[in-house]
Amino acid sequence: MYTFLKTAHSYWALIVLILLVFAIVNAFIGIIKKRTFDSTDFRRSLFVLITSHIQFLLGMILYFVSPRFGAWSEDGMGVMSDPTSRLYLVEHPTINLLAIVLITMGWSMHKRQSLDAKKFSRIGIFYTLGFLLILSRIPWNVWFQ
Ligand code: HEM
Repeated sequence: MYTFLKTAHSYWALIVLILLVFAIVNAFIGIIKKRTFDSTDFRRSLFVLITSHIQFLLGMILYFVSPRFGAWSEDGMGVMSDPTSRLYLVEHPTINLLAIVLITMGWSMHKRQSLDAKKFSRIGIFYTLGFLLILSRIPWNVWFQ
């Protein structure tokens, strides 16, 4: 269960990042070229939203089945003084939660706009912020090892 979830969370992370890049680039091209926000743009942005929410759910389950979770009972608040435990148990989950909230805000806000440029900008700005937050707390040194 743990190994399967960890592998799924690792590969799904790659999918989320790639789709985010596509959606962000697509949004900024839309603004620059003054394109109409059509059904393809809508589906692309929605697809990223769903994919990132799935990643969040995978992460939530992984959190409790990971052997790293045991550090809470062993060390208590001492996890904060260990950089690795702090990253996995506190920073990675909270910053990613914030990233998903921003992505979800971008999605909700774009729907309330009537101008195409504003739709693209809500997606472009909020998805970029979420993307940067996700990048900031990826355990790069262990990913796929
Ligand atoms: C879009 C959001 C997220 C992305 C892109 C992401 C990405 C990653 C990556 C790349 C790893 C390293 C996997 C490896 O060792 O190969 C990882 C590990 C981990 N993630 Fe996430 N994550 C996200 C959200 C979350 C959330 C919300 C939680 C918990 C609530 C979480 C919990 C964990 C845990 C516990 C590990 C360590 C698993 C272990 O080594 O035992 N992740 N994540």
